[in-house]
Amino acid sequence: MEIHNFNSEALPPKENPLPFPKMQSGREEEIRPGKTVMVIGSGGREHAIVDALSRSAKVQKIYACPGNPGMARHATCVPIGVTDVQALADFAKEKCVDLTVVGPEASLAAGVADAFKAEGLRIFGPTKAGARIESSKEFAKEIMEKYHVPTGFYKSFDRYEEAKAYAESLPLPTVIKYDGLAAGKGVVVALTREEADAALKDMLLDSAFGKGRVLIEEYLDGPEFSFMCAVGGRKVYPLALAQDHKRAYDDDKGPNTGGMGAYSPLPFITEDVRKKALEEILQRTADGLADEGIDYTGILYGGLILTKDGPKVIEFNARFGDPETEVVLPRLKSDIYDLFEAAIDKADHTPEWRDEACLGVVLASEGYPGAYKKGVELDFDGCSKVFHMGTAVKDGSLQSAGGRVAMVTGMGKTLAEAAEKAYGDVRKAAKEGLFFRSDIGKQILN
Ligand code: AMP
Ligand code: GLY
Repeated sequence: MEIHNFNSEALPPKENPLPFPKMQSGREEEIRPGKTVMVIGSGGREHAIVDALSRSAKVQKIYACPGNPGMARHATCVPIGVTDVQALADFAKEKCVDLTVVGPEASLAAGVADAFKAEGLRIFGPTKAGARIESSKEFAKEIMEKYHVPTGFYKSFDRYEEAKAYAESLPLPTVIKYDGLAAGKGVVVALTREEADAALKDMLLDSAFGKGRVLIEEYLDGPEFSFMCAVGGRKVYPLALAQDHKRAYDDDKGPNTGGMGAYSPLPFITEDVRKKALEEILQRTADGLADEGIDYTGILYGGLILTKDGPKVIEFNARFGDPETEVVLPRLKSDIYDLFEAAIDKADHTPEWRDEACLGVVLASEGYPGAYKKGVELDFDGCSKVFHMGTAVKDGSLQSAGGRVAMVTGMGKTLAEAAEKAYGDVRKAAKEGLFFRSDIGKQILN
């Protein structure tokens, strides 16, 4: 079966191989029959957003700040940092940007949405107050408790002795979370009392991540899945479901990472469960935030787990998931610009999805998530769809420049077909110095 809008575009076109094409000035940019959109970020998630925008019938011009070599095919990449709020706002005004989409949490925490809104600029991404749903686990738990959103029970502590006593009163495994940003290392699922105690000592006595509080919460058991919704106040626009693979190595072994692969849709989530999660988790949370006086615009990402008592929340994020976005947005059939517009205007809109499945495998630098080497020469020739995560152009060649280098994706009638394509491509692209998991989606495929 022919798959549309899924062309070979692994690399920027040969005639324009540099990561940051020169900004053009003059007539070409002044004539704008369509909309101008700016995307903040430089990873695979933002590449997938740019890619979806490039298929929009409404969008004429895309800027990416700072962007990456993969995005340069469809966007003008502008070297402005993701937390340089004033420079971003100034640039949006200078270029008459109609709408800005925020990728990374760091931009939200720096107040990019607050600044844009204050200047009357249209932006898809929550303000600092809304982004607390991700940055403060205690705030997220308080909202869930107050608005009856299903999640595990918890208590929060700032003193080691009290935390230890509470942890010991609970059955194993014990879930211990540092309440603040901890570069993905702030969650310990301890299988023994010793492990739990070591984590509490680390976080509360030795302040490994800073002087924060610690949450001890109920251990939830079941398959995890990611449910992202675009939100505009009380309006919730559900995206297709996806599953991430967070551990570094096959069979979910090794350290936690940003995510080593993903796929969509999810055959193990029934329509009943999806609806329940939408109504009791995402909609209730959006309503709760609105009741708290927070005007939330952006993605509300539910990191959910399907327990025997139904779906429950593990965590919320205030942004698109990475790498889930890279397998969800290729499946979006309707115009992504309409989705962003609807959320900003709190208007009615139902995003539509392709029946095809999408599966992506992350090509990572050997050593990731620990220390790794950069500068491996990359060649994505013949790959059907590659989202750049950590790449750079040096001395005229495309090279690895991050822990996660690229998400190589395949689309097909079934997940098996999508996996076959993705793995065919990632094997072509793999080289010494890079690695990938060989079992993305395997549990489902078996
Ligand atoms: P988080 O950063 O909160 O998403 O946690 C990272 C991972 O730890 C999750 O993807 C889960 O696999 C695991 N985890 C976190 N909280 C719990 C919980 N309450 N019960 C079971 N596993 C959890
Ligand atoms: N893939 C998990 C996240 O984006 O946080």
